Amino acid sequence: MYGCSWIPQALLLLLAVLPLAAAQPWPRCDDSSGNYTAGSTYEANLLALAGTLRGNASSSPSLFASGAFGAAPDTVYGLILCRGDVSFSDCFDCGTFASQDAGTACGRRIRDVVLCYNQCYVRLSDSNFLASTENSGDVSLRSGTDIASDDVAGYDWTVTGLLNATLQYAVDNSTRMFATGEWVGSDPGFSHIYSMAQCTPDLSPALCRTCLQDLLDQWWSEFRFRGKEDGGRITGSRCSLRSQLGQVPFYTLPQSRTFLTARNRRE
Ligand SMILES: *[C@@H]1O[C@H](CO)[C@@H](O)[C@H](O)[C@H]1NC(C)=O
Ligand SMILES: *[C@@H]1O[C@H](CO)[C@@H](O)[C@H](O)[C@H]1NC(C)=O
Ligand SMILES: *[C@@H]1O[C@H](CO)[C@@H](O)[C@H](O)[C@H]1NC(C)=O
Ligand SMILES: *[C@@H]1O[C@H](CO)[C@@H](O)[C@H](O)[C@H]1NC(C)=O
Repeated sequence: MYGCSWIPQALLLLLAVLPLAAAQPWPRCDDSSGNYTAGSTYEANLLALAGTLRGNASSSPSLFASGAFGAAPDTVYGLILCRGDVSFSDCFDCGTFASQDAGTACGRRIRDVVLCYNQCYVRLSDSNFLASTENSGDVSLRSGTDIASDDVAGYDWTVTGLLNATLQYAVDNSTRMFATGEWVGSDPGFSHIYSMAQCTPDLSPALCRTCLQDLLDQWWSEFRFRGKEDGGRITGSRCSLRSQLGQVPFYTLPQSRTFLTARNRRE
């Protein structure tokens, strides 16, 4: 069984909140899933699946692939979702890193491993998480840096509004269920904020909205981000949401962009 009781789930969330300063990949290692050894059938299946997923995701317009490989008891389930704005070749490279890191990121070969990179989310598991639309295998990444404004309430309100607008846009206005957003405001402590929302394209729009809304509802909870934190992201096997203060966006192309200014937000 995977992540099915309340208290371990809460503890897992705490452990999964990682500082952004740590090096990529940001892994999530499910210790209870057990280990596999070098040269095992499980390892061969995992590497074969990772290779296929890499090829499929990096040649698909939605930058997404999921599937299973191998016979029981060594079946591996997996998915790759590249950030909606990355190039096919960067998506391919991210899949290569995942294949290389899958066996080492947890310090030993863990059967259920999540690898988060700036450019993709990868999960490889012995459990069939693909059968559910739940956003399991989620990782929170916090910036650890505070904003330079005293108006924390105004900042939180702004980030919540931007993330909300971005998620609505991803669901209503993007066939790939991916959107980026930008806030431009007058408080010098948070004049530019960039955002992103994305779902795996196999979700229905309604499930995508529920998945992203759920992330937004948890955003300022004690297990996620502090109110003064200048950036955060939650990324899981079904959807992800991100906000980052700064002068330059963390994404490369202004695809499906939501653009908000202080003026139109406050009216
Ligand atoms: C996995 O390996 C670690 C380190 O060798 C060991 O302590 C642990 O008991 C193993 N877990 C399982 C489920 O085999
Ligand atoms: C990869 O794509 C091929 C061709 O579309 C498909 O047959 C296969 O099932 C896909 N596999 C995975 C793991 O995505
Ligand atoms: C989120 O956006 C929707 C659609 O624009 C709006 O109806 C809703 O009130 C917003 N919710 C919050 C919390 O801002
Ligand atoms: C986004 O989609 C909604 C609902 O279909 C529509 O009302 C709105 O005009 C669209 N916005 C943009 C900017 O295309």
